[in-house]
Amino acid sequence: MPRIRPFRPGDEPALADICLRTADEGVDATGLFEDDEIWAQIFVLPYAARHPDLAFVVETDDGRVAGYVVCAPDTREFEVWFATEWWPRFAERWPRPDEERSRQDGTLRYAYGRHAGAEPYGDAYPAHLHIDLLPELQGQGWGRRLIDTLVAALRERGVTGLHLVASSGNTGALAFYTRLGFTALPSHEGVQAFGMAL
Ligand SMILES: CC(C)(COP(=O)(O)OP(=O)(O)OC[C@H]1O[C@@H](n2cnc3c(N)ncnc32)[C@H](O)[C@@H]1OP(=O)(O)O)[C@@H](O)C(=O)NCCC(=O)NCCS
Repeated sequence: MPRIRPFRPGDEPALADICLRTADEGVDATGLFEDDEIWAQIFVLPYAARHPDLAFVVETDDGRVAGYVVCAPDTREFEVWFATEWWPRFAERWPRPDEERSRQDGTLRYAYGRHAGAEPYGDAYPAHLHIDLLPELQGQGWGRRLIDTLVAALRERGVTGLHLVASSGNTGALAFYTRLGFTALPSHEGVQAFGMAL
């Protein structure tokens, strides 16, 4: 039986792999960008680096990490750190595209545009999360258990609300968050945000 455990240093390659293999609206994004690593350096590794104590993984019977939830408890603080300390390290490797000619350009421009208050959801729901499971673990309650684990850890710290942003095309994820009791929030085109008061 797989089990949930706290993240530990050394899990990063597995987290990056899971992120890539679920990044295209829930399915494998391998080869979509010129460099597959872009996804993880935006959507999972900065969270595990900044808040390792709020990252949880699902470990399979044979000891592989096949799912995770990561979180920023204070979105404003996290976005400042991302913009000033995390993302500038990639400026030479992945320069800011002048225009959006491809999906990769759009994702890089999003990363360069991140700053405190860029998204409104953090005001009412200060924390935000990212969750991904490999197909072998999906549909068996691990997503629900990971969110329960994270919510308990956030409540213990006195965090008052949690949000996330999903692609509107990721219908499975939209059904999942609704089922778990998140409220759909007014969102930009192409995405759907959800919030939950803690
Ligand atoms: C989305 C995801 C995290 C959900 O986790 P999961 O373990 O598959 O979901 P669970 O088995 O815990 O389901 C919890 C509830 O949501 C519902 N649900 C989950 N996926 C669903 C789907 N695709 N369609 C309809 N309902 C769904 C389940 O029926 C379940 O309801 P119940 O507990 O009342 O029976 C997981 O499927 C996943 O990682 N998908 C690929 C990556 C992804 O899309 N990540 C989210 C990006 S925003």
